[in-house]
Amino acid sequence: MTAKQNELNIIQPDDWHLHIRDSEIMKAVLPATTRWAARAIIMPNLVPPIVTGADAQAYANRIRACIPNDVEFMPLLTLYLTQETNPADVVQAYRDGIIKAVKLYPAGATTNSHNGVKDIKAVYPVLEAMSDAGIPLLIHGEVTDTDIDIFDREAVFIERVLDPLRAEYPELKIVMEHITTRQAAAYVLNSSSGLAASITPHHLVVNRNIMLSGGIRPHYYCLPVLKRESHRLALIDAATKGDKRFFLGTDSAPHLDHAKIDLCGCAGVFNAPHTIEILAQLFDNLDALHELEGFVSLNGADFYNLPYNQHKMMLKRVQTPLKMKKKLETNQGNITVFDPQMPVYWQICS
Ligand code: NCD
Ligand code: ZN
Repeated sequence: MTAKQNELNIIQPDDWHLHIRDSEIMKAVLPATTRWAARAIIMPNLVPPIVTGADAQAYANRIRACIPNDVEFMPLLTLYLTQETNPADVVQAYRDGIIKAVKLYPAGATTNSHNGVKDIKAVYPVLEAMSDAGIPLLIHGEVTDTDIDIFDREAVFIERVLDPLRAEYPELKIVMEHITTRQAAAYVLNSSSGLAASITPHHLVVNRNIMLSGGIRPHYYCLPVLKRESHRLALIDAATKGDKRFFLGTDSAPHLDHAKIDLCGCAGVFNAPHTIEILAQLFDNLDALHELEGFVSLNGADFYNLPYNQHKMMLKRVQTPLKMKKKLETNQGNITVFDPQMPVYWQICS
């Protein structure tokens, strides 16, 4: 047996799917990400959403104003696709370097998605312009039909929406965001170029039993909802085998505790504080530490045609499990931090 590796030196990671909200909450949650990520794709589902190039520019300015001068962090903005989106505005915002991608939320699929797309065909002119200009489409891939079981909504979306959309726009670059099923992983694996998927730490580390067995645990409720163990294993396979089409998108989605613990609690897991340490432990447990850098630092940059980060990150194995923060206190209330339900023996040292 070879000795266990005790250090890991990787190119600094990025987060290819992140919610940081706005104002006071943004100020409170941003440091959890800037501690380890050099860049992040910032989700546009604010209230009201970021729908025009001008909205994105203003949001980027607000984000930059929250980042201390000595912290290097690049927010990569996205637009929220609506049925009123103007193709010319999207292309202009992309050419001006204001946005990196456009996000498609089926109306009603998740938190703050009521302004999303009801009829996919209505946005085909925008998709055509994006395809021509090389602008990536980021998809929350779930149907919203009430007759489809919530655990099947991703798989049905692939058949009913994604596959026809890709046949119509074969050149369009697409990220299936936060995939949660073996069907989604297989769909990406069997596809030709231009299709990739992001995967969250929580969907890699826990399954739906953690959320529902022995009591209901609202802090594990997110969308797409956690699935059964066989799906988690398919995601692990996708993330740890060196396939360039899979990369980290934390989907860190902070909500104040009172909004999570409610008669109708909202969806979202706040995992940003310990993302990298948790993934290092998971990959280590699977003897796949050598694949961590690809998943967290290289594959996403390649998909978005961005250079790798200049700085390196050093991780060290420690003797006693990391004491993970349980809550982030903000002046609006507490936000519970994702608990991976496993000991983590990795620490970021620089
Ligand atoms: C996200 C949020 O809270 O904004 N929630 C979630 O459960 N993931 C929205 C999303 O990405 O679906
Ligand atoms: Zn999200």
